[in-house]
Amino acid sequence: MTAILTRPAWTTDLELEIFDKLVDKYAPHITKKRLVEPRPPETDEERENFYRFRVAGAAHDLFIVQVCAKIIDSFPDPDLQLFLSRQIGDDGAHAQNTRLRAQAISGHDPIEDIQKQVQKHWDYMGDLPIRNWQGFLAFELHYELHIVALLFLNSRTNKISDPDSAKYAAEKILPDEAVHRLGVVDWWQRKFDHASQVEKEDLISQALEADEEGQRRRNSYLRNHWQLSQKAIGVEIDNLPTLYDTWRQEVLSYFLDIPVSKLPKLVSVND
Ligand SMILES: [Fe+2]
Ligand SMILES: [Fe+2]
Repeated sequence: MTAILTRPAWTTDLELEIFDKLVDKYAPHITKKRLVEPRPPETDEERENFYRFRVAGAAHDLFIVQVCAKIIDSFPDPDLQLFLSRQIGDDGAHAQNTRLRAQAISGHDPIEDIQKQVQKHWDYMGDLPIRNWQGFLAFELHYELHIVALLFLNSRTNKISDPDSAKYAAEKILPDEAVHRLGVVDWWQRKFDHASQVEKEDLISQALEADEEGQRRRNSYLRNHWQLSQKAIGVEIDNLPTLYDTWRQEVLSYFLDIPVSKLPKLVSVND
């Protein structure tokens, strides 16, 4: 059977093109290149806020490790297992690097603070990430793809950063995360492309339902995390709810092969 290519491959160039289109439409004052070079935190208050922001970053990665490690043997799919083993290794390395940088900045090992934040992810996500493939897909979409709007905004508008972390992010985290997003797209497409038209409609409604549940579960965490990002690194968040919601629509439109205008009304991060 020959697959018919009906849309471009999901690449980092396509992501940038989509994000720039949304910025032009909803936040045209945000420039494509950063205007100020970020500086390290200087005061005690800045260092404290920056520490909390880094702990949150490490917790995001460690939560991914814990979820993927729990679920990896429940999928009888060697392609998916190899992808998840890479994701566990990469996101574990990201969490460890962030932990060590937070330790260098604060003078103490943040592992307990990190695990406390990981527990909060388990509390608000409930069993969704490990319930079934639909819940796990929603987890991957939320933790790897839907967050990209914030990552782009960070890279263009943050005013405080740690040079060592920035170097590691550019050399290791960015390329790894592009692989993770592509891996999620590949897994879904293998599932989707093999389905009949009737099965496709079923897959779409199941994936959407789980993704919407994920959005409702994550809303208050996201809003708090964005406040922290603004306070700690100076990222501009005024237009973030709109950019987040419209970015998520674009991701789902690509995944489900439905034009944005034909998607049902989705849960907003402001709901
Ligand atoms: Fe990561
Ligand atoms: Fe990742």
